[in-house]
Amino acid sequence: MIKSTRYSGFKKISGRVIVALILFFSINSVHANYNPEMVEQRLEKLISSMTLEQKVGQMVQGNITHVTPDDVSRYFLGSVLNGGGSWPNGRKESSIYDWLTAADNYFQASLDTRYGSAGIPIIWGTDAVHGHNNVKGATLFPHNVALGAARNVELVREIGEATAREVSVTGLDWVFAPTIAVSIDRRWGRAYESYSDDPELVGSYASAMVLGLQGSLGQLSEPGRVIATAKHFIGDGGTIRGVDQGDTRLGLDALLKIHGLGYKKAIEANAQTIMASFNSWNGKKIHGSKQLLTDVLKTDMDFDGFVVGDWDGHGQVDGCKNTSCPQAILAGIDMFMVPKQWKKFIANTLRQVRGGEIPISRIDDAVRRILRVKIRAGLFSKGLPSQRVLAGDLALVGSQEHRALARRAVRESLVLLKNNAGILPLRGKLRILVGGDGAHSVAKQSGGWTLSWQGNKNIPTDFPGATSIFEGLKKAVEDIDGSAELATNDSWRDGFNPDVAVLVFGEDPYAEGVGDREDLLFCDSHTDNLRLLSRLRERGVPVVSVMLTGRPLVVNAQINQSDAFVVAWLPGSEGDGIADVLVADKSGRPRFDFTGTLPFSWPDAETPERDTDLPAELMIFKRGYGKSYSDKEYLKADLTELACAPKELKPLVIFSGTTRKPFTAYVADSLDDIVSVSGASTASLSQSLSVMTLDGDVQEDSRLVTWNGESDIGSEFFWRSSSVLDWRDFLDQDAALSMTFKVIKHPEGAVTQEIDCGVSCNSELEMAPFFKTVPEDQWVRAATPLRCFAKAGADLSQVRSPFILRTKKAFSLVIKDLRVVTDLPKSALIRCD
Ligand code: BGC
Ligand code: BGC
Repeated sequence: MIKSTRYSGFKKISGRVIVALILFFSINSVHANYNPEMVEQRLEKLISSMTLEQKVGQMVQGNITHVTPDDVSRYFLGSVLNGGGSWPNGRKESSIYDWLTAADNYFQASLDTRYGSAGIPIIWGTDAVHGHNNVKGATLFPHNVALGAARNVELVREIGEATAREVSVTGLDWVFAPTIAVSIDRRWGRAYESYSDDPELVGSYASAMVLGLQGSLGQLSEPGRVIATAKHFIGDGGTIRGVDQGDTRLGLDALLKIHGLGYKKAIEANAQTIMASFNSWNGKKIHGSKQLLTDVLKTDMDFDGFVVGDWDGHGQVDGCKNTSCPQAILAGIDMFMVPKQWKKFIANTLRQVRGGEIPISRIDDAVRRILRVKIRAGLFSKGLPSQRVLAGDLALVGSQEHRALARRAVRESLVLLKNNAGILPLRGKLRILVGGDGAHSVAKQSGGWTLSWQGNKNIPTDFPGATSIFEGLKKAVEDIDGSAELATNDSWRDGFNPDVAVLVFGEDPYAEGVGDREDLLFCDSHTDNLRLLSRLRERGVPVVSVMLTGRPLVVNAQINQSDAFVVAWLPGSEGDGIADVLVADKSGRPRFDFTGTLPFSWPDAETPERDTDLPAELMIFKRGYGKSYSDKEYLKADLTELACAPKELKPLVIFSGTTRKPFTAYVADSLDDIVSVSGASTASLSQSLSVMTLDGDVQEDSRLVTWNGESDIGSEFFWRSSSVLDWRDFLDQDAALSMTFKVIKHPEGAVTQEIDCGVSCNSELEMAPFFKTVPEDQWVRAATPLRCFAKAGADLSQVRSPFILRTKKAFSLVIKDLRVVTDLPKSALIRCD
């Protein structure tokens, strides 16, 4: 440990706390934290001295956005959490110092007995599910699905240890991990939090991760250890159709066999807390199930730690609200996650105990369990968070050692599905093109539960010290005298002739709920990836696809089009783990082989219509599949491809009664005298072109555009966008620019219509012949296919003005509506061939 970097702002502790700390130290020895008899004796003493208010306060956990340190002192709260996307002071950029300060403040407040608290140290829980992922700069390990592919129990234990160390640096005590869900149907948006659908594998990892985080029971109070949570008990991954928080319909035996083994193993490894699951079991919410929480978990499985509820999960129990749920207390939840309305929850619970609805024995049992864990974790003797042994040790967060471990985990988790003609490993002096929207995006490679709840809206500067996949490849390739360049969108630098391309694509970040899907067919919303892929195929450049994903999805089209196909899951901050395996050494030999194998079977084609309640997958690669460099067998047959429905594009309205954002209408005789159209009438500088507001169907909903024919140079009427627009998706779907108009006076000369797409981008279409065929004084709707402009040379990836109409001679028309549409009858289309 590098003490020199320890944050020095924590030397001062207030007098009050010093007194409290000395007191704790004097009545404790480390040994006492895990000697069962001493712990139980101590517990009984504590509980018998506590008031009901103090006890109920222990049972409640609020979110840091809704709990101040003062609240902790006044309401005797036993715990706080920071849910996904909550950070100290509401700032994602919060430093280690900020986290420690907040931890100190809550801790100190919990010892403050001025308002009648029992002075019991608070515990702070956080979702450190792939490293200390809410903290900027922390090492981000691959998500659970990737670790499942690595099939390495010891690796998982080491990741637990590293995570616990980084959490300890910030002064937090407790992590809501591991998730030991067995995901049966990968339409579930939390499938990536599941190690595998093999209960045995999940069981061995459950125990490894718990041991990594907590150490043995006797080690839990030592520096660098945190309390673990096995979650979500039970059957979270077994819901029908993979619906988040849905219903798991199984008999008790099957439930325990499939979804219970992980808990058995976690408890054997001394997991101190278990989180109840949002889902139902055979129609009944688990937060209200005494049978599962008390009879099965606490009695049969002999769990003596405490059960924490999930985020307002009690509020979903029949007859309950977020602010009141005696049913869940009776069922066996010990600590309630009531992020916001915890005050009301406390008041209601107090009333329910006083009124006899909840027996005090149940409260005592809950508090006994909570305090038991606090004692075992050494909370009474550890002192102020910032003063603990690893606290503030900045060098540990995102340390070289932890990053190296994460990088190894990435290497071990990669699964090779295809390597035709031995294109991998990349070897020799290659020029490599690296493309795809995942190529240079740590945000995308990290997935959900990363700095925010859904993991979306993260930007490169959120990840100091991290490495993108492109950066990793570039370093590795340059080491063997090759070169790598990043593609821009669907193309690459002129003059760069790649020998091979690595295309990184896949799912965008998501978390619970949002990540649920209807089927398993992957349809890339980043259409540039598809364009780049087909451009590479056209040029005969071999393609290595690297898929970032939280789950197996149907990607037959992508597999068919790739020479090699690698599944990288959600690797986290250490993107160079991918280059480690993909790029050979100088002699051309692999530096690392592929060792990862599928933790779930991989779907081929779906038949959801057959039985909507089943996973509905026909597997192409079975669980356990994964090639290595020694495999010489090719993936022979072309796989059956399923067509993706085209992306739904909404019509883009430019003008309809009024000009819509981001467009503005203008008239101009030349570039130097552009006049924006406003008011009842606007004319160009030369007065040869005027635009007037007219009534079409309703008042002032149309524009009369008139050229008087008295200009030599001509003038133009146009709409321009304040931002550059990418219309390639429209082009792909053969959209057209549709105009509703009425010709007042036929054109006397040439009329050009154009889309402006920047310098050296021209797309003039000669429209006079068309306008002449339209009868005067009659409303018409006609549309020019965007492909006509593209054919004339328009680059529709950068549209500036969607519509420019120019003439020198006399011409007059009224325009009522202008929009881009994908669904116009053929008869309304203007031909350009
Ligand atoms: C929180 C998450 C939590 C979720 C539950 C979000 O607002 O940030 O941590 O899991 O709500 O619905
Ligand atoms: C999730 C839990 C998480 C909690 C706190 C819930 O919505 O289901 O996994 O620990 O929020 O963020």
